[in-house]
Amino acid sequence: DLPARVRIHEVGARDGLQNEKMTVPTEVKAEFIRRLAGAGLTTIEATSFVHPKWVPQLADAEQLFPLLGDLDVELPVLVPNQRGLDRALALGARRIAVFASATESFAKANLNRTVDESLAVFDPVVRQAKDAGGHVRGYVSMCFGDPWEGAVPLHQVARVCKALLDMGCDELSLGDTIGVATPGHVLELLSLLNEEGVPTNVIGVHFHDTYGQALANTYAALEHGVTTIDASAGGLGGCPYAKSATGNLATEDLVWMLQGLGIDTGVDLGRLVATSVWMAAHLGRPSPSRTVRALSHK
Ligand code: HMG
Ligand code: MG
Repeated sequence: DLPARVRIHEVGARDGLQNEKMTVPTEVKAEFIRRLAGAGLTTIEATSFVHPKWVPQLADAEQLFPLLGDLDVELPVLVPNQRGLDRALALGARRIAVFASATESFAKANLNRTVDESLAVFDPVVRQAKDAGGHVRGYVSMCFGDPWEGAVPLHQVARVCKALLDMGCDELSLGDTIGVATPGHVLELLSLLNEEGVPTNVIGVHFHDTYGQALANTYAALEHGVTTIDASAGGLGGCPYAKSATGNLATEDLVWMLQGLGIDTGVDLGRLVATSVWMAAHLGRPSPSRTVRALSHK
């Protein structure tokens, strides 16, 4: 049975814009997030409190976050370590996300740490965020394939998922960072996680669309009972530290499918498409989303 309602975790302003060659002006980012909220999205990942040299595109987190104070939506932010958490809490952020990796190669490339070293960094960060009354998401990258290591063993993913839940994460997001997953693989991973004691209701899925499988993978996850789906408006996205990553599942493509399935999202598709068309004009190239293209050429 498919769920009656799905929560979309919008990542365009973070996963999307972190990967743009041009750095988008802070006011344009704020307006983008404002328009996403206006389109009915309720969880909008805003930025990352990472090292500005590692992700210069998001170096304006301190300037951006306070511009969003009046919005009545959840605004999760990524933090890689204690310094990131301190920066986020100082601005009043309530939802944070730590980001782990299922593979050693990506942990090194993305966080300059081994998998276990990064988990040790996250442990006090998660506890402190929880003690401050916050909500914590734990990303796990490279859950399916890794550009350096190839196919990723399921148990390797499960170990990192369990470690994140043990330290107190409220939810997980399973990242197909380079977009190589296929629906059977998704179902195998979800089943194994359930067998290992990770319940479906704490699992979100985060698909990149490199091979055009993101929507099929999402459908598989929905059938398994997953109700938190990450997507990025207009299909923006990628990861600067994984060269074969392309954009995320486009939020418009997701909403089109969910509407057809009669699943409630609360999103106004017309306003969302208009937002992505507006953003595409700023970025100087059309959105790769098929739904954005179809609905904006009518
Ligand atoms: P490092 O070089 O090992 O850092 O980088 P360090 O701990 O050795 O510290 C070095 C200096 O950086 C120190 O300054 C720190 O204070 C400073 P110094 O004392 O030398 O003057 N520093 C910071 N400054 C500001 N903010 C901070 C911070 N931390 C340290 N938070 C580090 C380690 C984690 C910092 C670095 O690797 C980093 O910032 N990585 C972020 C990479 C990233 O953002 N990647 C993209 C997000 S993940 C993703 O996209 C995947 C996802 O979408 C899911 C999927 O698709 O799979 C989530
Ligand atoms: Mg991603």
